[in-house]
Amino acid sequence: MRLSVKRTVVLLLTVFGAWSLTRTLYRVLACLGELPRTHVVSMRSRNWNRTQYRYNQNTPMVFVGGVPRSGTTLMRVMLDAHPDIRCGEETRVIPRMLAMRQALGRQDSGERWALEDEGVSQEMLDAATSAFILEVIARHGEPARVLCNKDPFTLKSAVYLSRIFPNSKFLLMLRDGRASVHSMISRRVTISGFNLSSYRDCLTKWSNAIEVMLSQCMAVGQRRCMAVRYEDLVLQPRATMQRVLHFLKSPWDEGVLHHEEAIGRPGGVSLSRTERSTDQVIKPVNLEALTRWVGHIPADVQLDMEKIAPMLRKLGYNPNANPPDYGPPDPEVINNTQRVLRGDFKTPTSLKRLRQVSPKLNSKGGGN
Ligand SMILES: *[C@@H]1O[C@H](CO)[C@@H](O)[C@H](O)[C@H]1NC(C)=O
Ligand SMILES: *[C@@H]1O[C@H](CO)[C@@H](O)[C@H](O)[C@H]1NC(C)=O
Ligand SMILES: *[C@@H]1O[C@H](CO)[C@@H](O)[C@H](O)[C@H]1NC(C)=O
Repeated sequence: MRLSVKRTVVLLLTVFGAWSLTRTLYRVLACLGELPRTHVVSMRSRNWNRTQYRYNQNTPMVFVGGVPRSGTTLMRVMLDAHPDIRCGEETRVIPRMLAMRQALGRQDSGERWALEDEGVSQEMLDAATSAFILEVIARHGEPARVLCNKDPFTLKSAVYLSRIFPNSKFLLMLRDGRASVHSMISRRVTISGFNLSSYRDCLTKWSNAIEVMLSQCMAVGQRRCMAVRYEDLVLQPRATMQRVLHFLKSPWDEGVLHHEEAIGRPGGVSLSRTERSTDQVIKPVNLEALTRWVGHIPADVQLDMEKIAPMLRKLGYNPNANPPDYGPPDPEVINNTQRVLRGDFKTPTSLKRLRQVSPKLNSKGGGN
């Protein structure tokens, strides 16, 4: 009996010792800066389910991007239809924040050294940038287990984002540039640097932008960045979304194939009047937009296509085929397309009225 009491006391002392040692060690490490200082955003679900969510820089996050008009909106609404994932509308401020952060870190600018001189270190700016981005992503929509962001141009900063959010993943949307450019020109989607009066200029800019994004995606590595073809998403949505959810380590959910049914639902898809693809994603996945560009590219531009947009061939889009063979559609998609052509999916009058408002603030936004 006495022995057992002694043993218990020894055991308790050992446990207490180990606990205080761990605590001290943790504090010392935190002081030495070995543990990352984290900004925490804590949210409680408002309407449907009272789960408490806490987010910090280590929260799994998904960034969806690509050149505007490449299916980034379609991808984000399909993910939004998944019960665990919330992307929401474009934030528009995140690409600007990233551009500013990049400018402050440029080696060749005097600004970087002036800042260091005044006690503003690059680490401090990184911590502030990640806190800013986290706050905006977490609070601009409903809470969810996995947060996602879609601002097309963020993928230009994939390497930087992968560093400040160590558990983030990236989905880069690829699309035949001729289709993206025809879409931005015919829908007058302002994108800074793109001259909407010139197919030649837009195709050149498309090629440059996707080249940067693809190299960022490759630098991040295939465990964390996945390139997805818009054409595959539209022609074979089931197989493509299975690959995407597998990559994100999220369970399969049939809802992602019916995003149009989740619009406006709690935990579903939220649409904005500013986003330029809203009138398209109210419809189910269909083939309407796949080859609409054919016949609209000026002959002289078509002739020089290989030189103007070298990324077409690199991405596997034959620059001399108008259109190239994108592959066969799933029967579900053919059915959807027939329903769309029959006019089963009209823009709700509320959205039509709202879309009259012209988005002037569209320097970096202009997504798809
Ligand atoms: C709320 O939703 C989360 C994630 O979908 C789920 O795990 C949880 O069980 C739900 N809670 C309630 C109270 O329904
Ligand atoms: C845009 O392209 C058109 C047609 O090539 C050209 O006339 C115009 O000067 C260009 N605008 C700018 C701002 O470069
Ligand atoms: C097409 O889809 C609708 C709605 O999902 C369904 O009711 C119908 O049976 C489908 N038609 C065919 C031919 O698959």
